[in-house]
Amino acid sequence: MSGLLQRMRDALGVAFGPKPSPKALGVLAADMHAHWLPGLDDGAKDLEQSMVMLRGFAERGYTTLWATPHSMGDHYKNGPAEILPALERVREAASAEGLPLDLHAAAEYYLDDHFLQLLDGKADEALLLLPDKWLLFELSYLNRPSQLQDALFRIITAGYKPLLAHPERYPYFHDSGSLRAYRELAEQDVALQVNLGSLAGSHGRSAQRVARAMVDADLVRFLGTDLHRPGQWANLDALKQDRWFHRVLNSGRLLNAQWANTPPQP
Ligand SMILES: [Fe+2]
Repeated sequence: MSGLLQRMRDALGVAFGPKPSPKALGVLAADMHAHWLPGLDDGAKDLEQSMVMLRGFAERGYTTLWATPHSMGDHYKNGPAEILPALERVREAASAEGLPLDLHAAAEYYLDDHFLQLLDGKADEALLLLPDKWLLFELSYLNRPSQLQDALFRIITAGYKPLLAHPERYPYFHDSGSLRAYRELAEQDVALQVNLGSLAGSHGRSAQRVARAMVDADLVRFLGTDLHRPGQWANLDALKQDRWFHRVLNSGRLLNAQWANTPPQP
């Protein structure tokens, strides 16, 4: 934009020319996938690191966050008994500091036998859900899970909505770039949550290429930070200039902002 046009725009408060870029990632308003609860998984180590991460969200303009600690049968055994008290600790610290964030918690369930038992109501704990009964789950990075169709059937018949974490990070779905696996999941009403880091190239070139192709094919319903530590912001911030980030924001398909201002869980 020329200097004259910019001065006219500033003087009149009118936007000429191309739409201005979003100032920051906070245009997404809500983040539904991150690991900022302290000491539960491979995310925030302690409360101090949790607070650094939360300040990062607030500085970027996010308003509403869900912590989603890993929940697995054999490694990170996180359920409501571990997650909800940790949420309370962080909420108290965030409130004492006056951070303008609504804080919630769910979990990122790994597809294993324990998850299947939870879905059947056979385990002695409740599932932690996202709004509108969306259920965040993840798969192995190495092997195509044989139980995927079984799990989807159980999720849907139990009345939940399947939300698959970072589908672009599962190489066995890449399938020479055809997107066939992703289209089949979308046809089964699985919402696909792409990581901002994948679009930014943090998870390698294949994940980035597939994430971009999913954007081009209008397959992305949620963008998540999947933030594990504060140092990851630098890569994500570069997306302000990224063509695919803007394309997905303008797709009309993203559900992130619908979850902003969700009332805090009791
Ligand atoms: Fe995650």
